[in-house]
Amino acid sequence: MTRYAHVVGWGSYAPPQVLTNADLERMVDTSDEWIRTRTGICERRLAGEGETTVSMSLQAARRALEVAGLRPAQLDLIIISTVTPDHAFPATACLVQDALGASHAAAFDLSAGCSGFIYGLSIAAHLLSAGAYQTALVVGAETLSRITDWSDRATAVLFGDGAGAVVLEVGENEGGVLSTLLGADGSGGDLLRLPAGGSKAPPSHRTVAERQHFIQMKGREVFRFAVKKLPEITREVVERAGLSLGDVSLLIPHQANQRIIDAAVRTLDLPPGTVYTNLERYGNTSSASIPIALSEAAEAGRIHPGDLVVCAGFGAGLTWGAAAIRWSRPHPAPPPRWLQFLRRMRYPLAAARSALRRLLRWLTSLGVRDYLDGEKR
Ligand code: ACO
Repeated sequence: MTRYAHVVGWGSYAPPQVLTNADLERMVDTSDEWIRTRTGICERRLAGEGETTVSMSLQAARRALEVAGLRPAQLDLIIISTVTPDHAFPATACLVQDALGASHAAAFDLSAGCSGFIYGLSIAAHLLSAGAYQTALVVGAETLSRITDWSDRATAVLFGDGAGAVVLEVGENEGGVLSTLLGADGSGGDLLRLPAGGSKAPPSHRTVAERQHFIQMKGREVFRFAVKKLPEITREVVERAGLSLGDVSLLIPHQANQRIIDAAVRTLDLPPGTVYTNLERYGNTSSASIPIALSEAAEAGRIHPGDLVVCAGFGAGLTWGAAAIRWSRPHPAPPPRWLQFLRRMRYPLAAARSALRRLLRWLTSLGVRDYLDGEKR
């Protein structure tokens, strides 16, 4: 039997706090007009106090599971793509696994810049098709506001926070993730980077004073790379699926800059309405940008069963990735309230189970459990 990795659930989360171009005009030497015409961005969302990559991933994951109609315990694998994890370790994916109560899932993070979600989707789809797993949750999530230099006008206007997620499930019907393409060119690593905080330059007074814990970018070079790469990978991933550009129902590009997207659409000669953009509302959310756009498009009825959806991204590394997906499900109607309530109750229960496990671990460390086990014997 051929196994197809179908996208059966989708969801996104954008924090409520909005930072407009007018707000940025008061922070750095810029203008709404410059930002709109050079990037297409009007506003972006910022994580509030207490919000993190884990908490936003969780929101997006819960929505995606709801659409999929799956319980967290049915997940076999969780991959979270991020360059802004809560910690270097433990992995964001493990903390999300615990909070969801996805007790049977393997979980890990991956870092591939803005192409990360496509990397995660590709790995998950291949593992499902190969027979290793039945279901997978793939999340792209970022809290870029915490690594943005708010005094640097060249980068501060570009980035935002958020999370998007999809659930994949094996099916026998032909469709789902038809083809993927991944690539990297580390010689361009210096074009977009976070200089300090890793093993090469651990945090110190010097790294903080030199503002090395913020994104540094050579925007013009990244722009040139993206304008060339985006149409190239879109065309190639469609060919790998044995299809042509005329078959594409919707292109979901990485939401970095409207001019990059417009240039790709011109090169590919795609008809108007074939591209989904939302960067005017969110800015560049790196790994989260494609899954947020994909979820929004599906919720808005822009994607129908049978449609060919192509996602294509590029980013720090340098990296790039694309996926061609034959869509198989409509966006479901919301379930009745009582069912929504029951589903919501899973998460406090998962938190209680997690607390119990911690308590047992603590008792074990005190030797109490050994004593009780001895009494039982
Ligand atoms: N407001 C006003 N003026 C500005 C601003 C600003 N926010 N930023 C730069 N400028 C000025 C520059 O100082 C420069 O002035 P000068 O001509 O006097 O020197 C002028 O505007 C033009 O600067 P450029 O950098 O050439 O502007 P460009 O048209 O290239 O646009 C931008 C800059 C928007 C950053 C563009 O290069 C871009 O989008 N690059 C790609 C970035 C990208 O996609 N990054 C994400 C990759 S994915 C990831 O992994 C996160």
